[in-house]
Amino acid sequence: MSTFMTAASREGKKINDVVFSAGAAARAAIEQYGKEKVVNATVGCYGDDDENVACLPVVEKVYRSLPMSDFITYAPPVGLETYRHDVIDATFEDQRPEGYTAAVATAGGTGAVHIAITNYSEVGDKVLTTDWRWAVYDNLCAEVGRQLATFAMLDDTRSFNIESFSSSVAAILQEQDSILIMLNTPANNPTGFALSDRDWDEVLDVCRFHEKKGKRITILVDIAYIAYAGEKNEVRSFMKKFSNLPEHIFVLFAYSMSKAFTLYGQRAGALVGLSSSQDVIREFEEAGKYSARTSWSNVNRAAMTLLSVIRRDPVLLKELEAEETGFFRTICDRAAIFMEEAKACELNVIPYKAGFFISVPTTVSAAACEKLHDDLIFAAPLARGIRLGVCSIPAYKMSGVAGKIKKALEAVNG
Ligand SMILES: Cc1ncc(COP(=O)(O)O)c(C=O)c1O
Repeated sequence: MSTFMTAASREGKKINDVVFSAGAAARAAIEQYGKEKVVNATVGCYGDDDENVACLPVVEKVYRSLPMSDFITYAPPVGLETYRHDVIDATFEDQRPEGYTAAVATAGGTGAVHIAITNYSEVGDKVLTTDWRWAVYDNLCAEVGRQLATFAMLDDTRSFNIESFSSSVAAILQEQDSILIMLNTPANNPTGFALSDRDWDEVLDVCRFHEKKGKRITILVDIAYIAYAGEKNEVRSFMKKFSNLPEHIFVLFAYSMSKAFTLYGQRAGALVGLSSSQDVIREFEEAGKYSARTSWSNVNRAAMTLLSVIRRDPVLLKELEAEETGFFRTICDRAAIFMEEAKACELNVIPYKAGFFISVPTTVSAAACEKLHDDLIFAAPLARGIRLGVCSIPAYKMSGVAGKIKKALEAVNG
């Protein structure tokens, strides 16, 4: 490129979307060989057994019944009052910690992560997350002049690496007065890993230690996939631990309607704040409103209405939960086939607890994914490994995939 028009600070901004490229290759193979023969493991949305993106039936029923005014009317920048109340309930279910809470409606979970970064880290700061991460975190930080720093998610025993977490937090706080820590759990993308309640105790001990030394710590828990992580209150048991934290430990949750309501394209989510300080929550609401107004102005009103309509009607809520459980069980069945076969053929897999994705660690993911094309298997080659979207591969296509990945890795490793 020889002609530039972007501001100097923006030159060269480019998203390297390996998932999209892998998806395009899969679609081309489907055209050539037919859908039956191709395993498209690149998709990040729940697919039914015919591999069509599935909508929860109760969501479709209620969404179609909403009046046109809900689709065309502006909403307040912070979100509808009822939505802001109900999305807090959806975040915590019966595991609500003690403390002041508030929610700001956001353009999906992505919007929630975006405004968390802008408001709770300084320009030039390091924001900390796990090495196994959603790659968009890097771009979201770079977009607003922050750097993403990572710590090793797993230790040698394949458990949460509290040593790495603790030393990374300490190193960053040598240079910064405050830190934003982003943890995508449960059902981590791209691994399906989750922190246990004990891991959370240790994480909070580290945070308390630094807070006592005068540091300010914000933890953003990205719960994008929580609806497909297990029984709703069991997978939220860690949330109670955030009760009565010191004033300078602030906890945020990035909530997404994309997966929980299968409304990926409708762009609705929320940033939920929890603090023992009412001032912190008041400031959060003002800052959130400002960010919303200047980023997307206001979000999809119909999606917000839908969440409230369903959550305020016990019959509809029961339907939603039963349907989500059905999707969750289907994903579990698909993942179980892969994990059993992986064990049998001694394929190294990142510990999977639940969620849309499973990852196979390797330093040669691009070459291995290329090799897998010989078997008409298409997966996402991430920096740290191969990601499989078990959310969208029907069980009958899952058999044999682990063995073929093992073979491809052996072939490219020589
Ligand atoms: C880890 C993680 N967080 C947040 C999101 C945000 O999704 P959305 O903006 O569609 O709500 C995603 C979507 O893929 C994700 O994988």
